[in-house]
Amino acid sequence: MVPTTNFQTLLPAPVGEFLIEPQSLEMQRGIGSDTNDPISSRVEFSLVIPTYNESKNIQRLVQILSDTLARVLGDRFELIVVDDDSPDCTWAVAQAMVADYPHLRVMRRQGERGLSTAVIRGWQVARGRFLGVIDGDLQHPPETLLGLLDAVQNGADLAVASRHVDGGGVSTWSALRRFLSRGAQLLGLVLLPGVISRVSDPMSGYFLVRREAIADCLLNPLGYKILIEVIGRGDIQQIAEVGYVFQERQEGASKVTWRQYRDYLHHLVRLRVEGGRIGQLTRRLDFPIGRFLRFGLVGLSGLVIDTAMLYLLHGLWGLGLTRSAIAAAEIAIVNNFLWNDRWTFGDMAKSQRQRGKMLKRFLKFNVICLMGLILKVLLLNFLFGVLQINPYVANVLAIAIVTVWNFWVNLKLSWRTSDVC
Ligand code: GDD
Ligand code: MN
Repeated sequence: MVPTTNFQTLLPAPVGEFLIEPQSLEMQRGIGSDTNDPISSRVEFSLVIPTYNESKNIQRLVQILSDTLARVLGDRFELIVVDDDSPDCTWAVAQAMVADYPHLRVMRRQGERGLSTAVIRGWQVARGRFLGVIDGDLQHPPETLLGLLDAVQNGADLAVASRHVDGGGVSTWSALRRFLSRGAQLLGLVLLPGVISRVSDPMSGYFLVRREAIADCLLNPLGYKILIEVIGRGDIQQIAEVGYVFQERQEGASKVTWRQYRDYLHHLVRLRVEGGRIGQLTRRLDFPIGRFLRFGLVGLSGLVIDTAMLYLLHGLWGLGLTRSAIAAAEIAIVNNFLWNDRWTFGDMAKSQRQRGKMLKRFLKFNVICLMGLILKVLLLNFLFGVLQINPYVANVLAIAIVTVWNFWVNLKLSWRTSDVC
């Protein structure tokens, strides 16, 4: 049964970009001095607890955390439960405790899901100078918080609870689980050494970070591993590690599935691409490199189809060359359009799936490709005829230039929003 609570006081979930302000909104607006809310002005430490179906754990966890933190911080801390609308109503169970625990705040997220994004949404409403995260299932021992707090108060930008330093470990993990955990770390070391090698336990979801170290950094989290996002995008100089033993779950169930491994791999690759030199350059130029690479791959598939169709129509069936070339090109254009609409610009097309709008995009795509073709012939003539570049090199150059042109114009005209023009 859902306990009766004052739902008005639930925290609204932030929307939009995953950006943390250098100062909390209350501080900026001066709400901190509000005498009705004596806590907000003094909050030094904000601890986010992401939850999904943790109704059996949340009460005990809040009690222990409150006692532990009150001993060292008095009332200068807050606990922020970010629950993704759990079917077991974890959010309601937590909200019912607010009367007894005034430093507890509860967010019920309905629009988004996922561990990493939940943590950031929590930090976005946090008021403390130090931001932290701890699992909501008591597998992270609360007393380790004291060591972590001590480290950030003494100058560390990041303090990570680690299973792989002195005092750390796992309780009774199977060989398979240990292997997967270490394998994931090894893979990370290969793909993203600059981030993964900085801590002994990059998989940890138990850490504290100084607000300024991640403020104003546009975060783009994925899956479970929020720590690699923080190290990868934040301005983290000094790192401390504190050992802890990962406890066995007493209540509820883990939410880890194979999907988390796939997301982790995707996350590593994304940080690698966006953090490398090419990523930095494209960010400065504001150029969507990932989208462009997808567009290029689709273009290659079109080239294969175009050639195959020309061979089929002209070579095998004996149709006239011009007619065959036009038909082959159109089939390739349809192929490219479908892939681009589903994949390259899939996120933009999602909100405009109606047939009419799709047809409009297809017609624009067609016209732009045709103009690209004319541009290519002109360029080829210029590069070869005027600049006297080797014809094959000139051809490749012309294709490269036209691909960028095609991509850019299609991005701006075909997929942006159909209503613009
Ligand atoms: N809001 C929200 N949304 N919370 C979630 C979601 C979600 O989609 N998925 C999981 N959680 C919460 C869980 O309720 C729990 O409090 C915490 O995130 C961790 O999830 P578990 O499913 O218990 O993960 P685990 O114990 O297998 O894995 C943990 O192990 C690592 C050790 O390598 C992760 O929590 C890591 O953070 C941890 O370091
Ligand atoms: Mn867990």
